[in-house]
Amino acid sequence: MKVLGISAGRHNGNSDIAVKEALLAAQAKGAECIFINLFDYNILPCTGCESCTMMMGDVAMGKRDDYPGCVLKAKDDMEKIMDVFQSCNGLIVGCPTYDLAPSSMYLRFAQRFLAYELAFRLKIGAVKVNPHMVAGLIAVGGSCHDWQGLSLEVLSASMFTTSVHVIDQYMVTRVGQPGNIVTHPEHLERVHKLGENVVEAIQTPVEERKWLGDPDMGLCPNCHGGLVFKGEPHWDGIEFPYECAVCGAGLKLTADGKFEIVENGLCRDRNVDEARGYHLDEIVATRMDYYRMRDTDPSVKEKLAYYREVKFPAI
Ligand SMILES: Cc1cc2nc3c(=O)[nH]c(=O)nc-3n(C[C@H](O)[C@H](O)[C@H](O)COP(=O)(O)O)c2cc1C
Repeated sequence: MKVLGISAGRHNGNSDIAVKEALLAAQAKGAECIFINLFDYNILPCTGCESCTMMMGDVAMGKRDDYPGCVLKAKDDMEKIMDVFQSCNGLIVGCPTYDLAPSSMYLRFAQRFLAYELAFRLKIGAVKVNPHMVAGLIAVGGSCHDWQGLSLEVLSASMFTTSVHVIDQYMVTRVGQPGNIVTHPEHLERVHKLGENVVEAIQTPVEERKWLGDPDMGLCPNCHGGLVFKGEPHWDGIEFPYECAVCGAGLKLTADGKFEIVENGLCRDRNVDEARGYHLDEIVATRMDYYRMRDTDPSVKEKLAYYREVKFPAI
């Protein structure tokens, strides 16, 4: 039983302390624990080259034999971190809230996950066994929920790509200065519990795992996220009255002011590998549409050439 703690905060700051407290709880329950602070590593931003998904697609179509991984893997520390990440059963993430959302240090790290897309790599045989990882997520901010409104939701959304099942989330509020969290025993107690919950989930058979956080948290009955928007048609025409912005569950508002999952509302649940696989179909369809127009409609190439030549002074 191995648990990786990841902090995206200042050294010895509130995220470090929150993650360490949760790891102490996991360790006391028998887990082998590892702790990293992302500031100690060189993590390059995803360049958006899409080589990873293209190459995985080529393996799936039999056009190449193996998937060599992210094109940046020899240039920074991401591969080294992901080797350990993928050998763990549990994850505890602590991340400062900057401008209502997770800090750029964390996002830079998490947006490299596409090259490690678990469902795709299982499909092409690049990974043999699904480790069925679970996670507890901790957002850390100087304010209350009103100034951290996107933090846990974006942290949670970063877990789909590697198929990590989020079983608990907690928002540490009103801690500004590094170390401020130690004056809040209620926060330390709760993140301790989160560490215990991660171990409990690891020890539960995969199909029986469930949400162990606050049962009343959030608006979405599926992922407990707090962001719901009015539904709009998807690329294939499907539409729900309301949607969870995090997991994609289709929802309706009940007479008592709560959200309920509609019939077939989990067909877009991003936690489910098949639903994400269908999203890959959407990506491929969009790409093919564009290629077709670019290759058959001469005005597309003319417009591309036009915009290439438009120049403005830079900095
Ligand atoms: C650039 C920047 C933006 C911030 N924005 C927010 C914010 O929108 N909401 C909030 O609650 N705290 C905000 N904070 C405060 C940090 O979240 C807070 O200091 C936190 O304890 C930092 O965690 P750390 O000690 O682990 O680094 C911001 C801090 C910085 C440096």
